[in-house]
Amino acid sequence: MKLADRMKIIKPSGTIAMAEKARELAKSGKKLYNLDVGEPDFDTPEHIKRAAIEALMSGFTHYTSSLGIIELRRAIADYLRDRKGLEVNPEREIIVTPGAKHAIYCACMATLNPGDEVLVLTPTWPTHFTCVEAAEARVIEVPCGETYSLREELLKEKITDKTKMILINSPNNPTGGVLSVDELKIIADLSEEHDLLVLSDEVYDEIIYDGFQTRSMLSFDDVRDKVILINGFSKTYAMTGWRLGYAVANETIIDAMNRIQQATTTCPSSFIQKAGIAALKGPQECVRKMVEEFDRRRRYIVEALNGIPGVRCTMPKGAFYVFPRLPDMGMLSFDVCMKLLEEEGVSTTPGSAFGESGEGHIRISYATSLEIIVEAVEKIKDFIIKYSRL
Ligand SMILES: Cc1ncc(COP(=O)(O)O)c(C=O)c1O
Repeated sequence: MKLADRMKIIKPSGTIAMAEKARELAKSGKKLYNLDVGEPDFDTPEHIKRAAIEALMSGFTHYTSSLGIIELRRAIADYLRDRKGLEVNPEREIIVTPGAKHAIYCACMATLNPGDEVLVLTPTWPTHFTCVEAAEARVIEVPCGETYSLREELLKEKITDKTKMILINSPNNPTGGVLSVDELKIIADLSEEHDLLVLSDEVYDEIIYDGFQTRSMLSFDDVRDKVILINGFSKTYAMTGWRLGYAVANETIIDAMNRIQQATTTCPSSFIQKAGIAALKGPQECVRKMVEEFDRRRRYIVEALNGIPGVRCTMPKGAFYVFPRLPDMGMLSFDVCMKLLEEEGVSTTPGSAFGESGEGHIRISYATSLEIIVEAVEKIKDFIIKYSRL
């Protein structure tokens, strides 16, 4: 079978082999500790589910506007005004998509040409690379280390006449780092000076700890027209399987993204959009409680990992991942994760999946119960002590 040439660019997920191994081990009855999940372990709140059921039962089951229903776009605009002080036109500056991932895909397809360069702050979620590459643009990594801290000089050095976009993800998957207002301002200034788009993936914006103060990239007025804000419902409201996200950008970009959405998915699911309104307009106590629980786990896991000889784990400021640096074990992070799964039943994600600078790290998700985390960290400790060359 002769596939399209572009399939050489769009690679399979780097963790497929691990998922297969996990399935094999599960069949053999081995106890598994799943620390590689990118989704909250909480159930979607009742009132959100009820809104979807009511919409279904009332027959709200047909195609909608390809931009998403206006009531949801207005709810998003209200949320952005009330929570972030942003003024956004819901008629023309918002598109609702089946998940933030599709919003990123549409944004890249709508704005990038083959050969364009995209400065991607890394480590970062692998889909950011895939979407840029699917548009046949080039990923230029800008390493920000395990704290996801901007190195201004490095970013400046990488700007060329081919640079079209800077791609940021704060709070960051996998490090949990959050860019400060000063760092965001540097990016905004460079965007203005060099006429660069900024794709800002803010899906973890409600999962921030210790009251860390930051802002949305869209809040910098001078670059308001250059920013594509990506957000969604998966992480904040434990709605990963519902597939609901959105993008906010200037009218021309939203119009282009809309044409891609029309050509690919028509619109997001009708009744799920009603659930999105319930999520934004309903009680927010569920979000606060979930973040409190993540915080408890975060504190435990960071301390426990730092107690393992040779492991260095920074305290995340947001999201629900840690990205510890491991001692030399004579193996690449992929082999570490594979062996850790085979021998101890603990599944994690190799740091190399998040960019070149991720090698030497593994990503651990603490979106699972504290009980499981406690047991799994003990197993990680045994494994590291066994193989460490310290
Ligand atoms: C940084 C980042 N953006 C987007 C997503 C996907 O969001 P959605 O479920 O809305 O497609 C993820 C999921 O892991 C993520 O980590």
